[in-house]
Amino acid sequence: MNPAEFVRALRAAAPYVHAHVDRVFVLAFGGEICAREDFEHFLYDIALLHSLGVKLVLVHGARPQIEQRLLRQGIASRHQGSLRITDADTLQCVLDAAGSLRMAIEAKLSTSLASTPMGGARIKVVGGNWIVAKPVGVRNGVDHQHTGEVRRVDAESIRQVLDQGRIALISNTGYSPTGEIFNLRYEDIATAVAMELAADKLVFLVNSNPDDWKLAADTGDAGQLSLGEATRLFENAAHLAESDRAHLAAALAAGRGGVKRTHLVGAAEEGALLRELYTRDGVGLMVYTDAHYEAVREASIEDVGGILALIKPLEDAGVLVPRSREQLELEIGQFDVMVRDGLVIACCALFPFPAKSMGEFSCVAVHADYRGEGRAEALLKRAEDTARQQGLKQIFALTTTTEHWFLEHGFVEGRIEDLPVQKQRIYNYRRNSIVLVKTL
Ligand SMILES: CC(C)(COP(=O)(O)OP(=O)(O)OC[C@H]1O[C@@H](n2cnc3c(N)ncnc32)[C@H](O)[C@@H]1OP(=O)(O)O)[C@@H](O)C(=O)NCCC(=O)NCCS
Repeated sequence: MNPAEFVRALRAAAPYVHAHVDRVFVLAFGGEICAREDFEHFLYDIALLHSLGVKLVLVHGARPQIEQRLLRQGIASRHQGSLRITDADTLQCVLDAAGSLRMAIEAKLSTSLASTPMGGARIKVVGGNWIVAKPVGVRNGVDHQHTGEVRRVDAESIRQVLDQGRIALISNTGYSPTGEIFNLRYEDIATAVAMELAADKLVFLVNSNPDDWKLAADTGDAGQLSLGEATRLFENAAHLAESDRAHLAAALAAGRGGVKRTHLVGAAEEGALLRELYTRDGVGLMVYTDAHYEAVREASIEDVGGILALIKPLEDAGVLVPRSREQLELEIGQFDVMVRDGLVIACCALFPFPAKSMGEFSCVAVHADYRGEGRAEALLKRAEDTARQQGLKQIFALTTTTEHWFLEHGFVEGRIEDLPVQKQRIYNYRRNSIVLVKTL
């Protein structure tokens, strides 16, 4: 690079350097990244990020290293879906692999920096019992034994470590309050930690190249996807390798949990991490949420897929009456949706029965991640306004599980005979829904 290019590059990076100071980034990478020959380069870049004032939490996995140990000891590697079944012998291999990797990372971040561009930097790495785990338990009849999932993250302690200018290092294990050790997916740990810390970024360093995932061919900017777009594309991404799907799923979960930016960065490209974080266009795939971008509007035919995805689990649980796609397409004009970052997070419908001056407030649902913040109430208010504009005098709802929510929002219990005749005719006595009526 000639001096002019150097100055230009430094100036271009300066705003990012400034923006990232004191920000919390969770950097996650699997054991396959640690096994790369160029893993050291990645650690130098981590050291550089640290010296540029970024508060770093590193979360590592150890799958290939666990596999090696299992193979060496002649222990069968057992999985259900993508989840390992960790028996007592396997747990020993997990601990051995995770412990060795952790020490290798600590060592590389200390001693080997002396002979690198980060020579002289004194980097302090700290670990701790920050991940409280619980057993996955028995799934589909299979006891996962020492395989666990995140129960709680001790965010306060991690924050203290970061505030002291240290890097926090977390392995793929967690402890139960009863002192048991569990083998966890590092993707889950990274996501939970990023959410608990309200991290500014979650970054997954991946072995494949997200550019090759061919996810966003129709979205213009392939490198940046809103949470809504990414969710939609994920549903059609059956072609992705299992590990790539796992990373993308983690990015979606983090986004839904409030992490504003999750980056998926291919490790193969030299300096990819720095380019993703300190250049305008980046090199990886970023899934972003914009907390300010939330709107309530009338639904359109494009929302049918989003509404179906939202209500399907509730239909399966018997909370909502099942609706086919065809029926929903016919009725879509009666629906309102609440959309956040392109994702349908709540919906409801108002079906007018003008002959009786009544309207049915129906199919109200709020995505589980977004409940308890007044969204259903806002949808109800909007439906009431629409009903008034249509000259309706009352709205009613039929429910089996949510009676009290309606009672707390001005509905009173009614009788089947209070309903419009068309509705009485199709009333399902087996379902035995409670009739609730609100006078406007
Ligand atoms: C019911 C539902 C729509 C409420 O959405 P929401 O955006 O969380 O609602 P709001 O924020 O306006 O109200 C939240 C309040 O309702 C309460 N609530 C939620 N579900 C309830 C239920 N089944 N019974 C009684 N109260 C309930 C919450 O506890 C909360 O009250 P709190 O803050 O005092 O604890 C949402 O929980 C949902 O989608 N549930 C599944 C679908 C469903 O039951 N639909 C109605 C079928 S007719």
